[in-house]
Amino acid sequence: MELGTTLTRFLIEQQRKSGASGDFTGLLSEIATAGKIISREVNKAGLIDLLGYKGKKNVHGEDVQKLDDFANEVFINTLSHTGHLIGMASEEMEGIYQIPENSQKGKYVFLMDPLDGSSNIDVNISVGSIFSIYRRKSTGKQATMEDFLQPGRNQVCAGYLIYGSSTMLVYTTGQGVHGFTLDPSIGVFLLSHEMITTPSRGKIYSINEAYDTIWTENIGAYIDQAKKEKKTARYLGSLVADFHRNLLKGGIFLYPADQKNPEGKLRLLYEAAPLAFVVEQAAGRASTGHAPLLDIKPKEIHQRIPLIIGSAEDVTQAEKCCS
Ligand code: AHG
Ligand code: MN
Ligand code: MN
Repeated sequence: MELGTTLTRFLIEQQRKSGASGDFTGLLSEIATAGKIISREVNKAGLIDLLGYKGKKNVHGEDVQKLDDFANEVFINTLSHTGHLIGMASEEMEGIYQIPENSQKGKYVFLMDPLDGSSNIDVNISVGSIFSIYRRKSTGKQATMEDFLQPGRNQVCAGYLIYGSSTMLVYTTGQGVHGFTLDPSIGVFLLSHEMITTPSRGKIYSINEAYDTIWTENIGAYIDQAKKEKKTARYLGSLVADFHRNLLKGGIFLYPADQKNPEGKLRLLYEAAPLAFVVEQAAGRASTGHAPLLDIKPKEIHQRIPLIIGSAEDVTQAEKCCS
């Protein structure tokens, strides 16, 4: 029986072709392991006492669900011993996580939204994990803020896991975007989407229309145009799932600045920038409405940013409304 291309085989082949060190092969293999563990827990969330709020707030004052914490710990435990990282940052942690003294250190930093869309778990809608990797800037024994506060353009690897009707890992190291689907019967990720490209124009627009009373005029004008063009609306409230659907089918996702939130809602470093790297590698575009998303130099780890992302021509059209 032909098994297909496993993630491990694909990574080894990529490593050989690009002449790269084995750093990403090691890191991505462990990201896949973390994804399998989280996928297992997400899938049985209704069966055991993992559902519901944990009764505490995270650093942004939001309710933390048990699975957010769990996913955060899984990534920390799985990745801190790879020998490739010097530090980690996460939506669920206020400051930098330093790789422990007794572990081997490496030259990369890792940022994550360990569980994205977590309010959807209770109702069986797809959720995900988003990750981003930069080469460190500092040279000391520990990671510093400067290592994390780099423009998205400097990312060396980014991607996401989606825990949906199937579990997928989608990533880029700057050589195209590749998607792998978990075969649960053998617990192995198999190459299912090689060299993903997104259509240059799509039928779908995704935005939370409940906020139309506080949208800026620009966004209202763009959505009016989208409706006139007979686009169709799709919005789950789960960024990874909304993004993934639009990446494959073509479309635009907007979480713009509005009159109450001039910086939007989504986080630059571990939500917007990694997806922007993926979309550009898939021939799409990502913008703040005024500038390419990947050019933004972050000021702090948990910074928010307006995000317009998806099919290249659709994003350009939305940007024109903003200018
Ligand atoms: P998280 O679950 O990591 O806090 O992210 C939730 C985000 C994102 O997944 C989604 O696109 C957005 O919140 C939805 O926000 P609204 O409910 O304001 O539309
Ligand atoms: Mn999120
Ligand atoms: Mn999250």
